[in-house]
Amino acid sequence: MPGRVILDTDTGVDDALAILLAMRSPELRIEAITGVSGNTPLDHCMRNIHITLDVLDAPSPPEVARGEDRPLVRELAFAGDIHGDDGLGDVTRMKDASGARVYPDPVQRDSPVHAVDLILERAGQNPDELTLVAVGPLTNVARAVMRDPDRMRSLREIIIMGGTFETGGNVSPVAEFNIHADPHAAQIVCDAGIPLVFVPLDVTRQALLDAELIDRHAGEGGARATFVRDCTARYVAFHRRNRGVNGCFLHDPLAVAVAVREDLVTTVPARVDVETAGDLTTGMTVADLRSQRWGEPNARVCTALDVQAFTRLFEERVLA
Ligand code: RIB
Ligand code: CA
Repeated sequence: MPGRVILDTDTGVDDALAILLAMRSPELRIEAITGVSGNTPLDHCMRNIHITLDVLDAPSPPEVARGEDRPLVRELAFAGDIHGDDGLGDVTRMKDASGARVYPDPVQRDSPVHAVDLILERAGQNPDELTLVAVGPLTNVARAVMRDPDRMRSLREIIIMGGTFETGGNVSPVAEFNIHADPHAAQIVCDAGIPLVFVPLDVTRQALLDAELIDRHAGEGGARATFVRDCTARYVAFHRRNRGVNGCFLHDPLAVAVAVREDLVTTVPARVDVETAGDLTTGMTVADLRSQRWGEPNARVCTALDVQAFTRLFEERVLA
């Protein structure tokens, strides 16, 4: 029986790759994809979700619902320098020889139901069955907790791509983008009493998608591999320039992979909290992974990854 999943995303480039992996994983039944502002403004996020689903041409696409267009407290801060002006590596600017758009604007079939209402509605159906995979800022999730915490506690678990514990940040020396974008939302989720799994930079930075592997599969002409090459071109260039790697990190796809096969990672229990007010440390995920002396654990934190197994899973399901 496939596991019921809602994917909450700020569809940027790696989010799109996460959607591809989720939709191509028979172990999961993607009931809905909910959008939240983060990498890119919400309107771009929603369009990018549909463009990605169109690439898959899935016979029965999941419900797609619009969520929050701004953080709970902090100002909006996008990541256009990494994900492109359109949030999808600027594929919406690509034209073929005839001048036609390679990735035209999709027919946007968003649900009339707001993402927060949809998450709450589905969480209450068949308790302990639904997993929420959150790969953007936690604004939608926090709004749902604020609205009905008991109903959210009937979730099986929330798998969060977010945080950094022992390897430094990517938007400051100590903070990771998703948590930093809405630290107040992240703290609300940490306090909600819902089983949490953090998939932090500590492991996602080991999840490198090699540029030559992308090109090799794209050269075979498949639509998915071609889309992966097109939407990651700018993202890979950023990684070459700023991270010294010939590829890109698969932050969000790893969170999906944990929902597929949790044996890909090693986790430790920890009490995780989020700095919401520090001048230098806002968005920092604060936890001691070596001991539980600082409070009852509220999460499991991924500390190690079977890199080969994950890379093989991603290649087989997304690129091949
Ligand atoms: O820090 C990485 C995270 O921030 C990923 O979810 C990426 O898509 C960006 O949202
Ligand atoms: Ca994301």
